[in-house]
Amino acid sequence: MNPNSLAVWRDPAGRFSPLKAVTLLLVVWPAAELAVRWALHDLGGRPITEVLHGLGDWAVRFLLLSLAVSPARAVLDWPGVVKLRRLLGVTAACYAGAHLTLYCIDQKWQFGTIVGEIVLRFYLTIGFVALLMLGVLAATSTDGWQKRLGRRWKRLHRLVFVLLVLALWHYFLQSKSDVSNAVFFTGLACWLVAWRLVPRRWQGKLLLLPPLALFAGLAAAGIEAAWYGLATGARAWLVLAANLDVSFGPRPAVAVGLCGLVVFVAALLRRALPRRRGSAFQPAAGTPARANASRRRCRPTSSE
Ligand code: HEM
Repeated sequence: MNPNSLAVWRDPAGRFSPLKAVTLLLVVWPAAELAVRWALHDLGGRPITEVLHGLGDWAVRFLLLSLAVSPARAVLDWPGVVKLRRLLGVTAACYAGAHLTLYCIDQKWQFGTIVGEIVLRFYLTIGFVALLMLGVLAATSTDGWQKRLGRRWKRLHRLVFVLLVLALWHYFLQSKSDVSNAVFFTGLACWLVAWRLVPRRWQGKLLLLPPLALFAGLAAAGIEAAWYGLATGARAWLVLAANLDVSFGPRPAVAVGLCGLVVFVAALLRRALPRRRGSAFQPAAGTPARANASRRRCRPTSSE
């Protein structure tokens, strides 16, 4: 095994990467904070449940962040962000693994009970399948596995979208009466999936971003209305209309739309900054810069 593959703060050439080192500190932070708060008895009467929920939330966040790497590269013209994809994906797997460990601790390591619950409770079954898939993708994310599997590697790693659906479904099912957070994360997932479905030549375009923000917000609103309609019989139009009421703060669908607009503003600001050589934003068609950029996009990318 290449020793550099364990030193996640180094780039593939073995050089220290400040971006990866800072990201490593940031991804460890939420777990460290939960651990410290647990040690200081700052998590209420059921600290295990709090940590279990916190780790599950962060597993979903890191999963979404790993899927945000490709859009960030294209929309913000930031090729270096690709270095973070593997780190973020493996982090999601570690948080999900720790989430299962907390569940086992909560069940006092009674394996019979744990297996029985996972088999019998549908939300745990799909969580378990999502975790298995996440584990396989994390384990095969190395350069060695990428080489060994060749073209099949990409096909295997497309499973991330299946596992994302399962993880979000697990989130909805365990949420009981309030699905706001699950709706918010699902709306972000809709943005990320919709961006991938757009033809490649439009993916870096600024004008794509406002309609994408609107689409993700509406998708989140629709999913929320459908969920409450099916789960509680609430009238869909009343749930949809609640999005217009800001007296309790923005509803999840509105928050998703706002996140989409933040991406638009970031892309706008990025274009105002001086451009690096070979930038994908170079305007003139057929210039060497544009040719380089499109060649770069066509090249198979390392997962880093
Ligand atoms: C064997 C696998 C898994 C088990 C046994 C499991 C178990 C649980 C349990 C017991 C809860 C809390 C339910 C409650 O309080 O009633 C929960 C919540 C949650 N799980 Fe899992 N889970 C698994 C896999 C996953 C995976 C793979 C993810 C994400 C990638 C995930 C994300 C979440 C999230 C986001 C929550 C809700 C957190 C919140 O409400 O703040 N889980 N899970």
